[in-house]
Amino acid sequence: MKSLYSKRLSKHQKELKQLYFKLYDSYGATPKDFDSLLSMMFERYNERSDRLNNLDQHHKTWYLSRKLVGYTLYVDLFSDTLRKLEKKIPYLQELGITFVHLMPLLQTPEGENDGGYAVEDYLEINPSLGTMDDFEHLIEQFADANIVICIDYVINHTSDTHEWARKALNGDSQYQDMYLMYDDRTIPDQFDQTVPLVLPNKRPSNFTYKEEINKWVYTSFSSFQWDLNFKNPLVFEEMVNILLQLANKGINMIRLDAIPFMWKELHTSCRNLPEVHDLLHLFHLIKEIVCPSLVLLGEAIVEPDEIFKYFGTEERNECSVLYNANLMVNIWNAFATRDVRLLNIDNSKYHIHDQGCWMNYVRCHDDIGWGLNESALESLGVSPYYHKQYLIEFYSNQFPGSFAKGEIYQFNPQNNDARINGTTASLLGLERSYDEHNEYEQYIALRRIFLAHAILFSHRGIPLIYSGDEIATINDQSYRSDDRKNEDGRWVHRPYFDWTRAKKRLTPKTFESIVFNAIKNMITIRKKHSVFDGDVQSTIIINNDISLYSFVKATAKERILFIYNFSEYRKELTSEPYQEFQFSTNMEDLFTGRTIDFNHPSITISPYEVLWLMEKL
Ligand code: GLC
Repeated sequence: MKSLYSKRLSKHQKELKQLYFKLYDSYGATPKDFDSLLSMMFERYNERSDRLNNLDQHHKTWYLSRKLVGYTLYVDLFSDTLRKLEKKIPYLQELGITFVHLMPLLQTPEGENDGGYAVEDYLEINPSLGTMDDFEHLIEQFADANIVICIDYVINHTSDTHEWARKALNGDSQYQDMYLMYDDRTIPDQFDQTVPLVLPNKRPSNFTYKEEINKWVYTSFSSFQWDLNFKNPLVFEEMVNILLQLANKGINMIRLDAIPFMWKELHTSCRNLPEVHDLLHLFHLIKEIVCPSLVLLGEAIVEPDEIFKYFGTEERNECSVLYNANLMVNIWNAFATRDVRLLNIDNSKYHIHDQGCWMNYVRCHDDIGWGLNESALESLGVSPYYHKQYLIEFYSNQFPGSFAKGEIYQFNPQNNDARINGTTASLLGLERSYDEHNEYEQYIALRRIFLAHAILFSHRGIPLIYSGDEIATINDQSYRSDDRKNEDGRWVHRPYFDWTRAKKRLTPKTFESIVFNAIKNMITIRKKHSVFDGDVQSTIIINNDISLYSFVKATAKERILFIYNFSEYRKELTSEPYQEFQFSTNMEDLFTGRTIDFNHPSITISPYEVLWLMEKL
């Protein structure tokens, strides 16, 4: 009988070979290089444990399950070490978490390392967090607790202390070819003309001069993060090899960091180039052969039209899961404007194939960049430029009457662009209302936090909670006096997890208990109902009020109608657009038991109300 491996290989080998040579023929790849790739893949396959082989055979689409509820945390901030994280498993289980994304934990240099996104050794754990054995032990403990695990693979760049970078700095030309290096400014200047800056505030160029070798190194992010040269077939093979070795540790999902940047060509923006899509399809084919249960999560925080291309197509998959940055900005936009029309437009616009799945989030460790669907804004008669200026002011304490308390990040004086930092609770009004002792506003802020999460939990995809949001963590200014952090404002929303506050989840009427229990309840409900499975599409229902967002999802068993009021005003929802769906007369809200009958001409929706109206079929 043919082994599973050879079956999978024969299914994909032809396409793998064609695509490999399409990319690498002109960069000197030989048939020997391809054979070396294949034999490395076979070696990695042979290292897979029985448990992982079983997952590969039977659980390829686990990421589409409604039971998957994610949580992102920094090990050092949450539990100090990997060993101590094991002791926190009951907390995660209490909330209902079944998927944990551990923020970067591979070995980084001491001092500034971009929160772990400058990796020195991809196969070692940061000693301050523990060892590789601790990590593997944690994965087993998670597996026993039915929690799957995701870690970052910082694939676009290494730190300047990585072994390859050190050798390159010693003048070894083979290692210099692993990166993009130039003897003078001629080519860097040409690149800089068309490549936008990621950190305009911090760095005026995409290149860093290294005196030791008298060369300019391509560094999209910080000077200590060197972009890898993916045109070099050796880089490709090495990075695939590391990916597969990480997968063999038992990691279920790997977050591919900053994928749009992976391929560079002169006279382009060096973002989202067609070759990046080829590369990602190659990664997909390789993992389908070696470890099909591994899921690739793409981090592509770019314009909405570009993000969703990273799913590829049904025939030509790239990443199975992608961060839904578009939903995230649309949520923040809807809160600031009390207008859900962008949500309506984009929900209907970006249809993804059945195997694709969004990772839905409100906040994460990064800033909020205003990657709105600009043509949709224009179609609504809104100027994208002025609209962005409004959002920036609204979320950074500059707009009178705003509830938000956020901070400007990376202001670019050339185009007045800026991004925003802050935690969910601070951006949604809890911090300000607390400072002002305004109890009604506190109540309203809690409703906003509930609404934001309800959107995550009801939209198609995996909901991902950012650690601390479940206890309404507010901005933390302590990073300003920490030398390793004070250059980067994103630390305002990356505080140490406050376990004293977390205890208050057990004390009724505290913010912590209100938010924690609301999210926990939402998770319980989500896990019960088939409409929350990842392959169930939704249909938007446009109504009479631009603050009211509604959509319906149905399976053979049940239908749920979701209604959200993105404003602090009581609204009258006209029943008429709902009548064609012939909802039953006693649709019942899964949170409060409130019943709704669309035979009435209109229905009252209270400020920031969330309705999950259920109908058994
Ligand atoms: C991603 C990470 C971000 C990091 C960057 C460079 O965007 O989310 O935190 O700074 O990549 O690795």
